[in-house]
Amino acid sequence: MAAHAQQLTRPAVRLHGLTRSFRSRTVLDGIDLDLPAGQFTALLGHSGSGKSTLLRAVAGLDHGVEGAGRLWAPERVSVVFQDSRLLPWRRVLDNVLLGAEGGDTAERGRAALAEVGLEGRERAWPGELSGGEAQRAALARALVREPQLLLADEPFGALDALTRIRMHTLLRELWERHRPSVLLVTHDVDEAIVLADRVLVLENGRIGLDLTIDRPHPRSYREPKLGEYRERLLAALGVTEDH
Ligand SMILES: Nc1ncnc2c1ncn2[C@@H]1O[C@H](COP(=O)(O)OP(=O)(O)OP(=O)(O)O)[C@@H](O)[C@H]1O
Ligand SMILES: [Mg+2]
Repeated sequence: MAAHAQQLTRPAVRLHGLTRSFRSRTVLDGIDLDLPAGQFTALLGHSGSGKSTLLRAVAGLDHGVEGAGRLWAPERVSVVFQDSRLLPWRRVLDNVLLGAEGGDTAERGRAALAEVGLEGRERAWPGELSGGEAQRAALARALVREPQLLLADEPFGALDALTRIRMHTLLRELWERHRPSVLLVTHDVDEAIVLADRVLVLENGRIGLDLTIDRPHPRSYREPKLGEYRERLLAALGVTEDH
């Protein structure tokens, strides 16, 4: 019973004193962070503040982390990057199935492609996809592994404004259906407040602000209440809106 209760309250990810230095420069300086199971969290910070470094550490991809660092993280973790990283010599479905395990993988791959709106494109080559379609294929590849934790490093950073908004809706819908813990790295304050239920600001190697966005979904950029959150986040990033 006690073990069961502990399972329920145990966060998906726990970082403790996570420190990362490159040569003598400390980029992450003793970060303590819990990500509850199923929470959608965004991570903001200036360019060079260490967002990608933190994401890589959470993914377990960085072997240069000092101290205890990552105390635990789930077994099934998927990572999505700014570029889709599809292998150009493999068809879309084969790309989606890379790293997928278990039975019925082809079926699951087709279902994941359908979920991201790429039904019928299974046999296309990555070079035949638009930027937004390639990112959707990357999301399908992430989903097919049924991740408990989805890490995304500026996944929409290279897309045009309209495609970005469509991708926001898609990502949120996928999250609602599958409920992984999400850590979404972004430069974009509006993207963070429209999508996430918690927004972190990375500053001087620490979490400088940890803000809960307590508003129902779907959210619109123009929603007045979101303005208060936007101002707090911009202030934490050192940006003032009165110019
Ligand atoms: N492998 C590495 N070797 C040396 N320095 C590194 C390495 N990786 C990252 N850094 C340094 O760590 C700092 C943080 O880099 P990181 O890529 O995490 O920033 P970021 O917040 O993701 O920035 P951006 O928003 O531009 O993507 C930078 O100053 C970068 O130069
Ligand atoms: Mg980065």
